[in-house]
Amino acid sequence: MNIVVLISGTGSNLKAIIDAIQSHQLQATLLAVIADRDCAGLAHAHHAGIPSLMLDRKLPDFAARLEQALPDCDLIVLAGWLSVIPTSIVQKFHKKIINLHPSLLPKFGGMGMYGRRVHEAVIAAAERESGCSVHWVDEGVDTGEVIAQAKVPVLADDTPEALAKRVQAEEHALLLRCLRDLSER
Ligand code: GRF
Repeated sequence: MNIVVLISGTGSNLKAIIDAIQSHQLQATLLAVIADRDCAGLAHAHHAGIPSLMLDRKLPDFAARLEQALPDCDLIVLAGWLSVIPTSIVQKFHKKIINLHPSLLPKFGGMGMYGRRVHEAVIAAAERESGCSVHWVDEGVDTGEVIAQAKVPVLADDTPEALAKRVQAEEHALLLRCLRDLSER
């Protein structure tokens, strides 16, 4: 399975993918890493010798450039990618793009729901459990079919940071489990 990983942040999920490939726990080839901003995660690609590209999301022709930059591949993994994927790319890579989201979708997804905001909203809604989801990317924001989820409890005295940490601890395993399943299709 040939994959491309798109990132916007620290890239801990990208690192987990690289480690799993290098230790033969995931049968996949990482063709390229693309970031939509200068971010710490790009260093993981550099260290592993994986071709990487920073495409500034503020460029007027960002969508066209992104489409041009994406190599032919079996799967595109959005691992902490914050830009909306242009419709033309969603259509071209139908059922070939997955996203990792830090809530139990369909709850707490959609435009503007990312990072700390998700966990703040979960706590404000007095939810008793949260978690993370891997889902197919469709034309909406966080609306595609859910592939798998992992749950964590929300504790009475939780802060967004504490909840984020608990959710993140589940993300790498969930994403790798999905990637392994997809690689065996
Ligand atoms: C994760 O919390 C993921 O759920 C969200 O962005 C974060 C990415 O973390 N989509 P990292 O950049 O992989 O460390």
